[in-house]
Amino acid sequence: MGVNIACQFPKGDLRAGFDKAPIAQGCHMLTDIIDSSARPGDSPAARRASDAQPAAWAPRRPTLPGVIAVKNQKGGVAKTTTCLSLGACLAEMGHNVLLVDLDPQAHLTLSLGLKPEELRRTVSDALLGNTSLVSVSRESAMSGLDLAPANQGLALLDKIFYAQQDYEFHLKRRLDSMGDGGYDFVLIDCPPSFGVLTMNALTVADLLIIPVQPEYYAAHSLRQVLGLAKRTQEKSNPHLRYRVLATMVDRRNKIGRVILEQMQAGLGQALFKTVIEVDARLRESPAFGQPITLYAPRTRAAQQYRALAQELMNSTTILAKVDNLRKGSLDSPQALMNEELTYDERQRH
Ligand SMILES: Nc1ncnc2c1ncn2[C@@H]1O[C@H](COP(=O)(O)OP(=O)(O)O)[C@@H](O)[C@H]1O
Ligand SMILES: [Mg+2]
Repeated sequence: MGVNIACQFPKGDLRAGFDKAPIAQGCHMLTDIIDSSARPGDSPAARRASDAQPAAWAPRRPTLPGVIAVKNQKGGVAKTTTCLSLGACLAEMGHNVLLVDLDPQAHLTLSLGLKPEELRRTVSDALLGNTSLVSVSRESAMSGLDLAPANQGLALLDKIFYAQQDYEFHLKRRLDSMGDGGYDFVLIDCPPSFGVLTMNALTVADLLIIPVQPEYYAAHSLRQVLGLAKRTQEKSNPHLRYRVLATMVDRRNKIGRVILEQMQAGLGQALFKTVIEVDARLRESPAFGQPITLYAPRTRAAQQYRALAQELMNSTTILAKVDNLRKGSLDSPQALMNEELTYDERQRH
């Protein structure tokens, strides 16, 4: 018998305290490089690459960056945290990473110490075709980690693009015209909705990471996202693959443990082996405009996100792009999407 119990996180309340936090402390950490005449080779990553020594991973360097969308339509499941932390860990490994904030709430932008309402150019300008993604991207305090920031204006694009044909290809066109831009990975933080912005992210993504908190409603929201991924595969991105990430795992919570076991049994290799546990330091780091790897590099959360980055690098799913092979050890998403997650109520007791 399936279990449906109310979601633990009341949305909208999550940032109540955060908004009062000393975000401004982080503002100086981002260098404003806005330049409307910027060309692909002018990106922060490209400038760094021209100075940098070849890194150990150079032979594997893709001709285009691997694009990862982080998406669940449920709020408060660590989408933004995963995008930022995973991006920071990949940067720490020596990769050039561009984070793209595609959520009008602009939490990713805030978490790197920027004030969205003060931005002159955002990812919206790039999506509208007024300028390039490179020209709106900024360096962060972390070497190798850049951000294409957002603000509330992004919400308007849902309405502007909706009536257009091929509306889901705007971001793909912008990324394609950027070439590699010096980036190895582009990580997109998606909004908790199924609108135009999400479709743009999934259409360009090689890999969809779905953060799931092993909680009530987890299976329901997971099925919804997988349904959307399936429709995206059929319509605009046949190459899309996905993996599920268990986040905010509290091992003291019995139902959480049971649901995690069910996810492991039901999803198999589609679930990252790495599990992200609850760690209060992850709640603090955005207030200081830093990813966890800078704010608290030795914490469990930092180590677990490093393990996730390593698991991702070891996985053929993302490396498939590097080798131009679209096959890997994972089952096809199609097959996995047919799998049902059933949570047996009896196991709660
Ligand atoms: N592993 C974790 N442990 C504790 N708090 C976390 C963890 N991951 C995320 N959080 C916190 O939970 C809240 C929601 O996370 P967030 O990444 O903003 O979710 P989403 O983007 O899915 O809405 C934030 O306050 C964040 O700091
Ligand atoms: Mg978010």
